[in-house]
Amino acid sequence: MRVVILPSPDDVAEFAANVVTAVVNTKAKANKSCVLGLATGGTPMGLYRQLVDRYTRREISFRGVTTFNLDEYVGVPPEHVQSYHYYMQDALFKHVDFDSNANHIPKTWNCDLTESAQAYERAIKEHGGIDLQILGIGTDGHIGFNEVGSSLGSRTRLKTLTRRTRLDNARFFSIAEEVPRMALTMGIATILESRAILLMATGISKASAIAGCVEGPVSSNNPSSALQLNPNVTIVLDEEAASLLKHHEYYRDSESVLHSLSVNSMKIECS
Ligand code: F6R
Repeated sequence: MRVVILPSPDDVAEFAANVVTAVVNTKAKANKSCVLGLATGGTPMGLYRQLVDRYTRREISFRGVTTFNLDEYVGVPPEHVQSYHYYMQDALFKHVDFDSNANHIPKTWNCDLTESAQAYERAIKEHGGIDLQILGIGTDGHIGFNEVGSSLGSRTRLKTLTRRTRLDNARFFSIAEEVPRMALTMGIATILESRAILLMATGISKASAIAGCVEGPVSSNNPSSALQLNPNVTIVLDEEAASLLKHHEYYRDSESVLHSLSVNSMKIECS
């Protein structure tokens, strides 16, 4: 795992925007299709703002780029302001130049949820898999909505949200009781198949989950620890989220060595 520790959440957003821009532009230059995996929540908001700004400055175009979001709540219609369909339109999709039908988010409204989950898996495969998956992390270590105890071999499926996740997400709803109890989420095995993964975390509330993700044993007790099994993962953190890492100094040294040698450690396949 590459661990990058930066001073502030703005630096984390800028780093992530640089990675996304590099992947999209490298693929476009090679005339290859590009598939991004996207996350919602508070953490990637700065990333999406940066991408919209870069699009406005003509530094990036999303023509030919396909996206797959990690998850969607069950019981919330797509036009509801707290649905992840609404979030993505509002934060990114409506501001940039994606082709029509390029954006995929699990369908959870007026449909058979088991069939919807299987169709999502098929769609990811039909598009050749995900080139770069963006992730946030829950305070309990969840990625997507793969809560504590999720099988490391799980695929897209229905998942019950923990009380802690519902409380954490209550800040986005007018009353805590409105937070849905279930979501359709990519599984851990689905996420691990991505060719590159970038996990973003900011703030002290994520420090313990990040310590388990990077330095803990691989265990469904902290689902993000499964990322240790993918050889092309970058974890980008602000100081607070990094504050419980034991090998903090080593990660900083590794980054300065990479910089001094101008090595870009994230591999983007263009074949
Ligand atoms: C969202 C998602 C979740 C969030 C996590 C952190 O699509 O899959 O795993 O990334 O709950 O949320 P924030 O960023 O709001 O702290």
